[in-house]
Amino acid sequence: MMDGLKYLPGFLNPKAQEELVARLHDVVSAAPLFTPVMPRTGKAFSVRMTNIGPLGWVSDRTGYRYQANHPELGTPWPEFPESIMDLWNRVSDYAHPPEACLVNYYKGSAKMGLHQDRDEEDFAAPVVSISLGDTAIFRIGGVTRGGKTQSLKLESGDVLVMGGASRLCFHGIDRVLSGTSTLLKDGGRINLTLRRVTKPSFIGMTQLG
Ligand code: SIN
Ligand code: FE2
Repeated sequence: MMDGLKYLPGFLNPKAQEELVARLHDVVSAAPLFTPVMPRTGKAFSVRMTNIGPLGWVSDRTGYRYQANHPELGTPWPEFPESIMDLWNRVSDYAHPPEACLVNYYKGSAKMGLHQDRDEEDFAAPVVSISLGDTAIFRIGGVTRGGKTQSLKLESGDVLVMGGASRLCFHGIDRVLSGTSTLLKDGGRINLTLRRVTKPSFIGMTQLG
């Protein structure tokens, strides 16, 4: 496995997964899933998404960006549940809190094309991914498009940390294997990705946030 990529199968036990799903129900009632569209073309993503934290990742005809508010409601994103912060502290090996948690919901034939996560300012922070529900076929390549790729099954409770050299690797979801988990009542898969967006700021000797 490539440098900086940490695969932690079964990191969350079934009880921890249930508890996280309960928190996500609260999140989705406050900040409903929306269907993002591709910049320029306006083509709809097959996943639906929402966010948690001070910043959320959105995509619309004008581009990709992080913003503090839900694109349809205009309200701030819900706050991070403690359990997600704990997980970041245990696996990220990074001294500052995450600022965004993108919640992707895959239903039916939803997938995600190969892409890099590069809308953040601080690539020193890893992207931490948590999988819940049906198993996904995750594909990861190198830092340039078109290189060799390998695939990995991500099951419910698995955590993947993309740090170091793997931070800017192309990655995506080929497909989700429906019926492989009973965690989500309506089936499908949820993926959470935790990101540090801004560079931590320094004021004199004091480091904030
Ligand atoms: C993503 O790259 O944003 C999602 C990856 C995943 O669903 O596992
Ligand atoms: Fe990504």
